This record gives sequence, C-alpha cells and structure tokens, in this order.
Amino acid sequence: MSARNYMLALLNQQRSGHSLAQPFYGDPDIFRLDMEQIWYREWLFAIPACELTKPGSYVTHKVGDYRVIIVRGADNMIRAFHNTCRHRGSVICKAAKGNAPKLVCPYHQWTYELDGKLLWARDMGADFDATQHGLKPVHCRELSGLIYICLANDAPDFDAYADLVKPYLAPHDLSNAKVAHESSIIESGNWKLVWENNRECYHCSGNHPSLCRTFPEDPTVSGVEGEIPLQLQSHFERMEAQGFPSRFKMSENMQYRVTRMPLLEGAESYTMDGKIAVNKFLGRIADKSAGTLLKFHYP
Ligand code: FES
Repeated sequence: MSARNYMLALLNQQRSGHSLAQPFYGDPDIFRLDMEQIWYREWLFAIPACELTKPGSYVTHKVGDYRVIIVRGADNMIRAFHNTCRHRGSVICKAAKGNAPKLVCPYHQWTYELDGKLLWARDMGADFDATQHGLKPVHCRELSGLIYICLANDAPDFDAYADLVKPYLAPHDLSNAKVAHESSIIESGNWKLVWENNRECYHCSGNHPSLCRTFPEDPTVSGVEGEIPLQLQSHFERMEAQGFPSRFKMSENMQYRVTRMPLLEGAESYTMDGKIAVNKFLGRIADKSAGTLLKFHYP
C-alpha cells in the first residue's frame, strides 16, 4: 500500500474528537507526506522584515530538506532564494544571519548579486550564459512588516490572507520595529503535537502557571467557540471604536483566521505581574488593554 493510501485508510478509521492514530506522529512515510503536502506547498511565516536592517542583510532558514536565504537587496526589496549554488550545489551562506555586499559561494567563489543574478563565475568559457545561472527564487511576500515564503513551484493564493490580516496588522507598524530579543524553541516531537497542544488550553492551568497570570484559558474568550461573551463583545467594540480591527474573522475557506483578544481583566501584557514590560508602544496602539493579536493558519 502506498503511503498516501495508508494515510487515507487511517483517516477513514479516525474517531471524531480523538487523537490521530499513532503513525501520524511517528511514521517517516507519513511525515514525508506532511512535508510534501503542507510544508513545501503552503505560505509560511519566516521572519519579521525589520530583522533585515539594510541592503545585504540576510538570514538563512531551513524548511525540511530545503535551505533558504532571505536577503534585502540594494533596492531594499526583500527576496528569498534557495541557499544552493548553481554551480555544484554548495551551501552559499552558512551563517544563520549576516550582512554581505554580494552572495559569494565559498566553494569556487561564484558571486551573486543580492537579487540573485549571477555576477561572476571564473573560467566558464565564452559560451557560458550567466543569465541562466542565477539563484533559484523562492516565493516571498512582505505583509505589513512580516515576511512569508513558499517553496512550491506555483504558490497558492496569498491575497486572501493578506486582505484579511492587513487591517489588523497595520496599526502595529511592524516595518518600523526593531528586534529586541530572539529565542528559538526546538521541540523534540512531531509538529502535529505542537499544534494540537496549542489548540487546547486544557493543559494550561497545570503546566503554564506563568501564562495563566494574564492569559484567559476559557476557550469562549477567544470568540471562536460558542456565543461571544459580553466582555469580549465590549472589547471588540472599544478597540474598533479607536480604529483597530478586532472581531474574529476568517477567510472563506476557513484556513486563515484573525482576532484581537483581551488578556485577563486588568492585564496589560504577557508578563509575570501583568504590567507592560516597556513604555514604548508598538505602532499606533497606546491602549494598555488592547490585548493580543492572534493569527491562525490552518493546514
Ligand atoms: S559550488 Fe559554488 S562555486 Fe562551485
């Protein structure tokens, strides 16, 4: 049986409201299908644009088997490329991030412009056409200061997501933000476990006492389950009266969702005492009870 048919057979036995069958979390063939059908096809959030502070700033990114470089060009435009030299396939940028006037392959020094064009390749002969050997592009879109990439040959529509989320993001002015701190959390587990964990807060009170100081664990508070409680309704109305879209909305295919949710009564930020951690507000929202902006992208 092919991996695809095996997966479909398992899905046909799936009991609603129960965990997926064990192979969905550990079978390498199913993992490969996950990568091919979801992660190599969909738009993925990669970095905040402000991380690339000037022309030549780059970060490298890994999605499954693919290495990607995201770089700000001399024209200030942010582009993404496969981080693979067109000569013999060496990794071009080995550092996690950096700044370079040109992208130079460390193996035989083929040199690429920041827009991916091949600029220089030694001793390739008179009939070598450099224009046919630029870096392979990866789809890349900037949305209100956030950079998304897609590894598919033909990227799915991005505009439905952009149109939905842009008004929510705009007041935060993320293009003019600065990265103050960065931390990476690597989970030793299948990606679905992480997502499933995120989709329920049944575990929160027993495992995240710090989070529960400010985060409402009641699922109705997010406005995605059951009737919208009065407290949430008045939060939406108060924020929208100030010009900040907040109501729960989703794209037609339900894949994308967005909402601005309050924190617990009196909480201003996800801090231990619930007070704001910095006095400078992000963008135009200076209301300490604005809560948190949540974006969802379902497979
Ligand atoms: S592999 Fe990059 S220059 Fe040869």
